[in-house]
Amino acid sequence: MSGCPFWGNKYQFNFNKLSLEDEEGEDKSQEGLNKASKGGLVYSDYLHLDKILNAQELQSEKRGNKIHDEHLFIVTHQAYELWFKQILWELDSVRVIFQNGSVRDERNMLKVVARIHRISMILKLLVEQFSVLETMTALDFFDFRDYLSKASGFQSLQFRLIENKIGVPQSLRIPYSRRHYRDSFKGHENEILFKSEQEPTLLQLVEAWLERTPGLEPEGFNFWGKFEVNVLKGLEEEVAMVQTKQASEEKEDLLAELKKQKEVFISLFDEKRHEHLLSKGERRLSYKALQGALMIYFYREEPRFQVPFQLLTSLMDIDALMTKWRYNHVCMAHRMIGSKVGTGGSSGYQYLRATVSDRYKVFVDLFNLSTFLVARHWIPKMNPTIHKFLYTAEYCDSSYFSSDDSD
Ligand code: HEM
Repeated sequence: MSGCPFWGNKYQFNFNKLSLEDEEGEDKSQEGLNKASKGGLVYSDYLHLDKILNAQELQSEKRGNKIHDEHLFIVTHQAYELWFKQILWELDSVRVIFQNGSVRDERNMLKVVARIHRISMILKLLVEQFSVLETMTALDFFDFRDYLSKASGFQSLQFRLIENKIGVPQSLRIPYSRRHYRDSFKGHENEILFKSEQEPTLLQLVEAWLERTPGLEPEGFNFWGKFEVNVLKGLEEEVAMVQTKQASEEKEDLLAELKKQKEVFISLFDEKRHEHLLSKGERRLSYKALQGALMIYFYREEPRFQVPFQLLTSLMDIDALMTKWRYNHVCMAHRMIGSKVGTGGSSGYQYLRATVSDRYKVFVDLFNLSTFLVARHWIPKMNPTIHKFLYTAEYCDSSYFSSDDSD
């Protein structure tokens, strides 16, 4: 027997009897009041279960040939769509925080990071969820596939909205039967999609935020200028050191490796080259935003950069998990329909396989930043002013005292 620290000693747990008794030996677990009988909002009303649980209409049953697994097929898709809805809910709220400038009050960054992290947790679940549908065999699917007619996940409005709002541009999409992806949507849905293409994407909002990274100002700490000097000097010193070694295959390899590294960095410091890669879609962030991101990577331990670093990590998680979603989806589709064309009219497996690509990675620059990581002693040392600045949160306006952001 032991007392509960919250309830005091009045109630005692009896672990042997697995019951909750008070001092008089009465079982308190049986106490309570049936509030549902008093009327008002109850569970099923609050959740509108009447609508949700009556929305599984088996086409096979309607045609007089009920196929058991069609129920699983419908419920799985509906569960996906509900989670897509939650992702959009979080995504929109984060975009609002960025858009209305609330993000300048750095306390709001924690909210942004928490919501972006939540999106990645949902995606993790969605990546796994395919395994439930994979308990259906290809033959079971074949039994009711014809009843789907032209219906296809390709027509999922919410999936396209997620892609657009994160920042997948039309120019990088895999062409689908030589048609615009929006052609699969009519009327209001088509308009909603068009509107989402005009709004600032998460990528653009993060880009504008990264461009303001403290320490980038050329007339201030001038991180980029200092970094370039350090890297080029560091590489020259390494070459000079290797040159002192006796001729050997290892020496040649080291020199070749250093030459390659120098080319990589020279291209990093070449803004024109960056613009060229940007125009081809191989880089997605502006030159300044890329510098900000690299700075956050290097100084991630500084108090003001810890949360921004978490944000960059979660953004990469989202990209990686979307890619895993595409991969698991195509594996399942392959298993179910082989190389048959999709119900939506695409080449099916071939089309889906092509979407598992870096073209759909919105934050691809953040992944590539690892190419430019260098030894700690090459990272520009901070002077006391910038160090203090990065230690203290920026609360330059009254919003610090009246967090004005959205919910
Ligand atoms: C038996 C299971 C499934 C098969 C065989 C299948 C097959 C396909 C095929 C062939 C396509 C290409 C478009 C077309 O021509 O139809 C497609 C697209 C798509 N499917 Fe599925 N699918 C299955 C389950 C799911 C589930 C559970 C979801 C969850 C929402 C889903 C969401 C999507 C989405 C969003 C697309 C568009 C992907 C893109 O264009 O990048 N599918 N599916």
